[in-house]
Amino acid sequence: MKERRRAGQDWTRSASSATTFAPVSLVLITGGAGFIGSHLATRLVQAGRAVRVLDNLDPFYDVALKRRNVVAVAGAASVAGGRFEFVEGDIRDRETCRRAVAGVDVVVHLAALAGVRPSIAEPSRYMDVNVTGTQTLLSAIDNRATAFVFGSSSSVYGGNTKVPFVEDDPVDRPVSPYAASKKAGEIVCHAFHHLRGNPVTCLRFFTVYGPRQRPEMAIHQFARHITNGTPLPFFGDGASRRDYTYVDDIVAGVVAAMERTSGYAIYNLGGAATTSLQEMVTALEQVLGKRAVLQRLPDQPGDVPVTYACVKKAARELGYASPTPFAVGVARFCAWYSSEKKAGRIP
Ligand SMILES: NC(=O)c1ccc[n+]([C@@H]2O[C@H](COP(=O)([O-])OP(=O)(O)OC[C@H]3O[C@@H](n4cnc5c(N)ncnc54)[C@H](O)[C@@H]3O)[C@@H](O)[C@H]2O)c1
Repeated sequence: MKERRRAGQDWTRSASSATTFAPVSLVLITGGAGFIGSHLATRLVQAGRAVRVLDNLDPFYDVALKRRNVVAVAGAASVAGGRFEFVEGDIRDRETCRRAVAGVDVVVHLAALAGVRPSIAEPSRYMDVNVTGTQTLLSAIDNRATAFVFGSSSSVYGGNTKVPFVEDDPVDRPVSPYAASKKAGEIVCHAFHHLRGNPVTCLRFFTVYGPRQRPEMAIHQFARHITNGTPLPFFGDGASRRDYTYVDDIVAGVVAAMERTSGYAIYNLGGAATTSLQEMVTALEQVLGKRAVLQRLPDQPGDVPVTYACVKKAARELGYASPTPFAVGVARFCAWYSSEKKAGRIP
């Protein structure tokens, strides 16, 4: 597996000499070139934290988008006078992980193959990256004080129809390889915590959206089809409901979880409200000022009828409060989408 440090290049900064963060505090974000990870990295460097990103720039979606995310984080670090280091490497490689965790006091593990539907085509690859990769990363941590935050998923709740979903609901009936890999990730994290004592927090993210959202995710994909006037794949009757979470809320929850210094805990991070597929399309049509052309298709295997987060535990213990209303977040997403489109940076 290749690993390259890019400290000397334009889009990477590693300039700690003149900075002023209080205790030396280095955060490793795996998957930090991706959608959520790059937002988290930006927030942290702006707050004066030193950040190292480990990401293999997996070609699941356009790698140019990930490179641009890294450039954006490097730019934010430069403006804030913070330290940022990008390591291109794979979480399945032991030596890469050993070097990436050196000197780190918090690991936020977001590197994964994401997405329910593609996992059905390639289950073994999903298990390899999401489970074996997680174990390889955990095994590399030799400091018992290093806190570990794991990016889990609402998909672990499977076809649960008792809403809202609460952290101690049964999660032993996943309906896709992706969901199974995320539950397995929580389990290997628990074994690591039990044996090594490190503080571990698993965060179950509920469908995250906002600027830089992955291009294959529904909101981004639908905005593209509506804008371009191309048929929008509309699965089922439009009644399926999702709890959509604005990316800034996820980042706030992750930052709070990074401060936990003991135990093993699981929290939902969601918008704490649901929006139907039909309502989501209507919201996009209204903001983008254009009607969608629907291509009606049957429900997909692996899809679930509803996701809905109870966030009371996160509110109580992480101070997670007042998630962004969907209408507000969608308007912000569309503003980003339209400006990127106008600049010719996305299709
Ligand atoms: N976006 C959501 O709605 C959502 C919901 C629930 C959970 N999650 C989880 O949050 C995390 C981040 O999701 P995202 O939407 O930002 O996805 P993303 O695909 O944009 O980011 C994941 C990053 O991981 C990297 N990666 C993949 N395989 C790797 C490997 N073997 N080694 C190193 N890096 C690797 C990718 O290159 C990518 O940059 C993932 O763990 C995902 O499962 C996301």
